Amino acid sequence: MGGGIHMSHITIQGGSRLEGTLAVQGAKNSVLPILAAAILHPGRTVLRGCPHLSDVESSIRILRHLGCRVDWEGGDLVIDASGLSRWDIPDHLMREMRSSVVFLGSILARTGWAELSHPGGCELGPRPIDMHLSALRQLGANIREEGGFLRCTAQHMTGREITLSMPSVGATENAMLAACGAQGETVLVNAAREPEIADLQAFLCGMGCQVKGAGSSTICIQGRQPTHDVCHTVMPDRIVAATYLAAAAAAGGEIELRQIQHSHLSTVTAALHAAGCQIYSGPGQTVLRSEGRLHSAGTVRTAPYPGFPTDAQAVLMAALLRGQGATVFVENIFENRYRHVDELCRMGADISVADRVAVVTGVPRLYGADVRATDLRGGAALLVAGLIADGTTRIGDIHHIQRGYEDPVRDLAALGADIALEEPPPAAHQ
Ligand code: EPZ
Repeated sequence: MGGGIHMSHITIQGGSRLEGTLAVQGAKNSVLPILAAAILHPGRTVLRGCPHLSDVESSIRILRHLGCRVDWEGGDLVIDASGLSRWDIPDHLMREMRSSVVFLGSILARTGWAELSHPGGCELGPRPIDMHLSALRQLGANIREEGGFLRCTAQHMTGREITLSMPSVGATENAMLAACGAQGETVLVNAAREPEIADLQAFLCGMGCQVKGAGSSTICIQGRQPTHDVCHTVMPDRIVAATYLAAAAAAGGEIELRQIQHSHLSTVTAALHAAGCQIYSGPGQTVLRSEGRLHSAGTVRTAPYPGFPTDAQAVLMAALLRGQGATVFVENIFENRYRHVDELCRMGADISVADRVAVVTGVPRLYGADVRATDLRGGAALLVAGLIADGTTRIGDIHHIQRGYEDPVRDLAALGADIALEEPPPAAHQ
């Protein structure tokens, strides 16, 4: 989806059931650290199934700024990092996407230097990076935080045991990438276990690095291994899959998602099953059947993997808005992850929030309204709510959604939704 992003809207006529089969796009939260990891090898990386997302474009701008060649070849993204000549990421590129801080570890590993502006916060609240910096300092990096910039030197990083105070996804990834440039073995204890970490490990090993243990709480990295060209297929996006399952659960119908590993989604499908859906899973496929009008999913507590993913909280909430019974959400990962609630209440939802707890009580009807995406997953929740609202829902600020969803209009329309992208009229030529 292109066009004048900030003026475009997504328009949905509620009421359609969803039927059909969909192949799920590549995972945003896998490909972003992999794009940072690509600079570890002064050669060629081919990423198969790389999703076309604005967050990916932001990473591509950083790679090109650093001196890499990056080209789309059909659905593949091809990176040649042999020409890397810089180690800084300027403020305007860091501000596009705060998770670009994951480049810190790989730039240090490749060059021994790094200068990034501090990533700052985002819509979900402050996004501290204390665990990232602590891990890199334990490897021997000298990091000065001054004037909103991180000025780092790491001429000789040495592997060692590092214990994370909590299983931070980003801190785990940053430490893995930096450790690839450290002398000797690094052992990460209390590492994040998300599937995207295992995909990063597979990519690094495909490049010649020696990494093992991803998916468990202990990851071992043997640094300074010779690297070679690599071709890697990005894993499917489990949160996009959760979004479309929630959409079908709410709207009613039967959909099949291809290429998704059911174990990556089991806490989400368990909640949807509790709310009244039928779920079938086979190798590389998940089928959901629903009559719509769900009932309570009980209490949903977000937690690090393999717990219920915080990224699926908003879309599950939206699926439960029209139906019977009350569901209690407890958001344990981010401080401010209920920004979508006000917009959903404009559509007639009954949601009450107190700090980290949100209580959703099903109502008989939702009403189409003009709403605005507040953040990536909050915007996705509006897509789900629009499918089950009476009348027309117009969603603005859709640039938030385009950070993580390649083409939700294409995907939901393919499943039978009455949905369209409304582009602004071309500017009148003076
Ligand atoms: C990753 O963010 C994902 N982003 C997030 O997805 C996801 O919600 C999150 O992991 C949890 O699964 C990417 O992978 C690009 P964390 P990250 O470090 O790495 C605090 C989406 O919608 N923390 O596990 O930032 C932090 O503030 C996005 O796709 C520290 O306090 O998550 C948060 O409260 C949103 N200090 C909690 O830990 C640190 O040094 C979990 O953060 C690091 C994190």
